[in-house]
Amino acid sequence: MPALVLVGAQWGDEGKGKATDQLGGSVDYVVKFNGGNNAGHTVVIGDETYALHLLPSGILSKGCTPVIGNGVVVDLTVLFEEIDALEARGVDCSKLLLSADAHIIASYNRTLDRVAERFLGKRKIGTTGRGIGPTYADKMNRVGIRVQDLFDEGILRQKVEAALDMKNQILVKVYNRKAVTADEVVADLLSFVERVRPMVADTSLVLNQALDRGETVLLEGGQATLLDVDHGTYPFVTSSSATAGGACTGSGIGPRRVDKVIAVVKAYTTRVGEGPFPTELLDADGEALRANGHEFGTTTGRPRRCGWYDAVIARYAARVNGVTDFVLTKLDVLTGWETIPV
Ligand code: IMP
Repeated sequence: MPALVLVGAQWGDEGKGKATDQLGGSVDYVVKFNGGNNAGHTVVIGDETYALHLLPSGILSKGCTPVIGNGVVVDLTVLFEEIDALEARGVDCSKLLLSADAHIIASYNRTLDRVAERFLGKRKIGTTGRGIGPTYADKMNRVGIRVQDLFDEGILRQKVEAALDMKNQILVKVYNRKAVTADEVVADLLSFVERVRPMVADTSLVLNQALDRGETVLLEGGQATLLDVDHGTYPFVTSSSATAGGACTGSGIGPRRVDKVIAVVKAYTTRVGEGPFPTELLDADGEALRANGHEFGTTTGRPRRCGWYDAVIARYAARVNGVTDFVLTKLDVLTGWETIPV
């Protein structure tokens, strides 16, 4: 079997974790290719509920190797908190692979994400405050810190100092915050080195070799089509490529290797944060969808905005992702409505 891409067709929270989990048994590798711990998927197995933010949901499928690809931004504290919490419940995380090229969310980028949102006031994006945007901005500005930098203290220090040259000007002069020292950032990052070392790999090579052997690779998109930095409702988007194209750049697999693009679509629509939402309901129907569908963010706990199914965005998602298959979720939430406007 081949490479499968799984993406959200709306603004996220379509139930991608559940779809991945159902495919999990027949998949050899599950790869997270974009985003970071802004994501949140809830997977229920038997009596146990698992809320994952950074780890690919394939971590729960026995026999499957979970991979954090190069396109992901990684908060190391969150990574090990999630691993420790899962291992305490008996889940084996020892197969997890982490791309040496993935970027790390440094503490100053979490700070910058939050203060920038406050500074924007009415124009805020409603980010998750996890440092996602500033870390991707650093990647594009070529001042990011990558996983591989952890293994050479001299290089790490140089890169942190280079990033802080500019960051401290902004923190102090624009946002009126305290400057951050390179020493504290480097010490924090180095504290993870020994735990990170065994999981670091050239994941593009690992995945291409797996495909050469005929194994199945599932590339699991975080967020969703309408939150994609290119194809979403810009600027009210996340800062990564959440559409099918991002699966290739975020994992190091060429587009000709992808056989299926599966889009997950919920029977109604939700959105967290600011931005346009044509079918949003600000009435009792919206309240009922939120209550029946338990529409509260897994990451931030925020109530999700709710509205009817939007066929126009589903068709758009089919186009920009080259969708071959759809998975429809949460149809049961609509039980009780006589008619559903589409
Ligand atoms: P950021 O990804 O934290 O920068 O947030 C940018 C926008 O994407 C905000 O509107 C967030 O609410 C939204 N967002 C980020 N991740 C998710 C997700 O996993 N599900 C739904 N919305 C998300």
